Order: sequence, then C-alpha cells, then structure tokens
Amino acid sequence: MPHPSSSSSSASVDAAAKGVKLERYASGGGALLMRRAGSSKIVAASSHLLFRATVLATLALVCLFAVHYPSLLSRSFRLSAAAAASSSSSPPRQTSRHRNLLGSSSAYAGAAWEREVRRSATPRRDGGMSVLVTGAAGFVGAHCALALRARGDGVLGLDNFNAYYEPGLKRARQRLLASRGVVVLGADINDAALLERLFAAVPFTHVLHLAAQAGVRYAMRAPQTYVASNVAGLVSVFEAAARHADPQPAIVWASSSSVYGLNTDAPFSEDHRTDRPASLYAATKKAGEAIAHAYNHIYGLSITGLRFFTVYGPWGRPDMAYFSFARSIVAGEPITLFRAADGTDVRRDFTYIDDVVKGCLGALDTAGKSTGSKSGKKRGPAPLRVYNLGNTSPVPVTRMVAILEKLLGKKANKRVVTMPSNGDVPFTHANVSHAARDFGYHPTTSLDAGLRKFVEWFLQYYKIDPAKLAKGSRVGTKTTKKKSMGAISAAS
Ligand SMILES: NC(=O)c1ccc[n+]([C@@H]2O[C@H](COP(=O)([O-])OP(=O)(O)OC[C@H]3O[C@@H](n4cnc5c(N)ncnc54)[C@H](O)[C@@H]3O)[C@@H](O)[C@H]2O)c1
Ligand SMILES: *[C@@H]1O[C@H](CO)[C@@H](O)[C@H](O)[C@H]1NC(C)=O
Repeated sequence: MPHPSSSSSSASVDAAAKGVKLERYASGGGALLMRRAGSSKIVAASSHLLFRATVLATLALVCLFAVHYPSLLSRSFRLSAAAAASSSSSPPRQTSRHRNLLGSSSAYAGAAWEREVRRSATPRRDGGMSVLVTGAAGFVGAHCALALRARGDGVLGLDNFNAYYEPGLKRARQRLLASRGVVVLGADINDAALLERLFAAVPFTHVLHLAAQAGVRYAMRAPQTYVASNVAGLVSVFEAAARHADPQPAIVWASSSSVYGLNTDAPFSEDHRTDRPASLYAATKKAGEAIAHAYNHIYGLSITGLRFFTVYGPWGRPDMAYFSFARSIVAGEPITLFRAADGTDVRRDFTYIDDVVKGCLGALDTAGKSTGSKSGKKRGPAPLRVYNLGNTSPVPVTRMVAILEKLLGKKANKRVVTMPSNGDVPFTHANVSHAARDFGYHPTTSLDAGLRKFVEWFLQYYKIDPAKLAKGSRVGTKTTKKKSMGAISAAS
C-alpha cells in the first residue's frame, strides 16, 4: 500500500517527476559526453565539454528550481491526455507548463482552454445542472461525475492526483471519465487563481466538493495535509463560490460519519453530538461543518454536508480495509483485524457506492439556491443542511472478511488484536431518516451483493485469474510487502 512519506500535493509530485526526467536526461548526456571525449581529439572535445557542461549545469539548476519551488508548478493544470486526444478540435496543450515556469498566470486562460472546460461543463438536457466536481479522480467523485454526466448534466472535474494512494488508479478513473466526455483538470483546490478563472469561464450552478485528505490513521504521519486539504481547501472552495453571483452556486460537500467520534448512542442521527472526534481527520471534517455554517450565514451560500459511512465498491480506495484485505488475501499476506477494547467485534455501516451516488445526486437536486449576502434577508436564509448517508445495518468487520474469502475462494491469514486508539472507532451505524424524507434516499445494496461487484472489478482491474487463486498459487498483484496494520481505514 503506497503511503507517501511526506508530500501529498500533486504539485510536488509533478515537480519530482520532472526532476527525475531531467536527471535521467542529464546523466544520459553525461555518458555520451564521456564516450565522445574519450574517442576524439582533445582540443575539439574540450570545447564540446565546456558547452555540454554548461547545458548540464543549466539542467541541474532547472531541476533544483523545480524541486524547491513546487508552488509555481502547482499552477499548471493538465487536461487529461485522453481528453485532449478524444476532443477533435483543440490541440493538446503542451505550452502551459512553460508559461507557468515563467511565472505567468495566463496558463489556464485562452480561448481553446475555455472551450474545452465549457464543453465539459455544459449540460445536455433542459434544466440540467452545471457541476464542478472536486476530487473527481477519487473514488466517490469519479462515480458521481459519471452519474451526473449520464443523465445529461454538465460536469467539470478537478483533482490534484496526489500520491496518498496509487495515482495510477486516479489516472485510470480520469481516463474513464474522459471517455465519457468529462474533463478532469489536474489542480489543487487551494489554487484560488485557478478557481477564480473557472468560475469566470463557467456559470456553475452547483459544486460537488469531494476533494479531501481521507483516511484516519495517515493523519498521525501527515497531519498538515489534512489541514491543507480539508480546512484551507474547503475555505478556498467556499470563497470562490461565495464571490460568484451569476449564479452563486449551491454546494454539496463530503463530511464524514467520523464526526460522531466516540458516540455509542446508535443509530447515529444528525442531531447527536459531534464534539468528540477520535482522529484529526474527524476533527477537520467537524471544523468543515462549522466553516460551512459561517459561509452560509455570511454569504448566503446554500450548503449541504453529507456524512458518508464507510463507502465501498468498484474503483474503490486501496487504503480502505475491504480493498487492502482483498489484496492481502490474494497475495497470501496476513491481515490484522481489530477487536474493540470491550472485546466486541468492530462493526461498520458499509455503504455501497451506487447508494451513496444516489444520495449525492438527491442532495444536489434538492439543494435550494444560494441567496447571496445582500438579498439574503429579503429572500430568507439560504439552506444549510447536513445528512447521514449510510446503509443502516452495521456488519462486523470479521463478516466482511468472510464474504471476501468466499468471493475470492481463498482463506485469509487473520490476526486479531485490540484496537489501538489511533483514529478508528468501534462501530458506526447511520440513521438516514432525514435523507429519506428530503430526497428519497433508500440504500438497497447488501454487503454481500456490493462486495461481489467490488471483487469482480478488483480481479479484472488487477488482471487476477480467480482459477489460479483457488489453487492457492501466489498471484502477483501490485501489493507491497507492508503488513496490513494500516488497513482498517474504517469510517473515513
Ligand atoms: N470513502 C469513504 O468511505 C468516505 C467516508 C466518509 C467521508 N468521505 C469523504 O468523501 C470524499 C471522497 O472520498 P473518497 O473515498 O472518494 O476519497 P478519494 O481519496 O478517493 O478522493 C478524494 C480525491 O480528492 C483529491 N484531492 C485531495 N486533496 C486535494 C486537493 N487539495 N486539491 C485537489 N484534489 C485533492 C485526491 O487526489 C482524490 O482523488 C472525501 O471528502 C472523504 O473525506 C469518504
Ligand atoms: C432516526 O432519526 C429520526 C429523526 O431524527 C427519529 O425520529 C428516529 O426516532 C430515529 N430512529 C431511531 C431508530 O433512532
């Protein structure tokens, strides 16, 4: 499981990638230089040597620059290669990075860029919405973007493709979206200048804000990424939306069931207390709910927070338990299960992705308009809502593992330990009566049925032959050697 050691911003990842490329080029040049110098006349070679040394030094400087000033690169965005290729009229833009390196902010302006962005964001049905989906290369974001697009809404995606988990999976989701005509820009939600330009270019009616640093345990290793994406990033999105009046979009964003923290009063209802977070992740989501209140109050933004309960399914998140357990079972590696401190099974209200997507679209459809700060008093306050989106039936994690074993035809090598207090909570259980009342949210997928769909996708995506699995031979997945201690990212 890839857990990057420090950085999680695509800017630094991009910069690192560029650095690597340049280094390879430089060392290739060095080898060439030595071969030539050794075989030709010394006088001629020495002037070549001087020239090449200058070139190498320049490249090295550029490398250093790229690595040390990633923020300048963070302004660069890329239309997906696939999107650029599949769109007939506009040429792939390769110039934007150069312009960015020169410090110009005009990189994401220009007629061709605007055409591409507008094409993606324009609805194809009467009364369709135009939705900015942040975190669109993520698990929930990709599914929602596809569902919106399928029913004729306009969708523009945004994602920084950070390396918290395998960026290859995010790129694959991006390609899938591109094949359906949805563009996912590679950019950070903290890039206020880019958001400004997007809102100037497109009259978004809605923002589905799903970009965030997820996972409860990783917060102990990279606390600042949670603050950057879940607090600063949220403010950045609210700011951009608040400042746009024509129209001022309605916002639906992902909070989390983790805000219920150490509550034991089941099922969890929206009016239960949320002031005992068990992780920094939960605390940043709770902070987000408070920030949402302020932006609703001051700017008349229509804001709906959705508290997701352990979402799972095809194209899911490799850092979550069901996914990493599937990998470990396939690879014949041990998995670690938690038992609650009181000896009971850890349970989760596992919620299938298609049910969550219906909830997200229902929340968007019923969002109600933003009213703006001025007109707010005349037209009454803008809506501020919060809903649980769960499955309403908690299942022991041990049962989840048993279902995976059955579906994969292979036994897990289990180790059960008492749950450490490092972020996870002993159980979650949603009361979804408010979502049912307000937008007909009724989860319909059992864990058995949902995991079957997940495993089908999983085997296909990683090209695993189930027949070989059953015989017990080791199958090569991209699983790392790391033990699955970090695996139960349960209620994130
Ligand atoms: N999956 C769950 O069980 C679950 C449960 C509760 C809440 N949530 C919340 O739902 C949302 C979606 O979760 P997911 O499971 O799809 O996670 P995900 O990690 O697959 O998706 C989030 C996406 O946001 C992107 N991103 C992160 N920081 C960004 C930034 N600063 N700028 C631009 N893009 C950024 C990531 O690259 C990623 O693709 C998140 O807000 C998460 O906290 C998820
Ligand atoms: C669920 O929430 C609703 C609304 O708050 C409440 O009326 C109902 O009693 C709750 N259900 C349970 C089982 O607690």
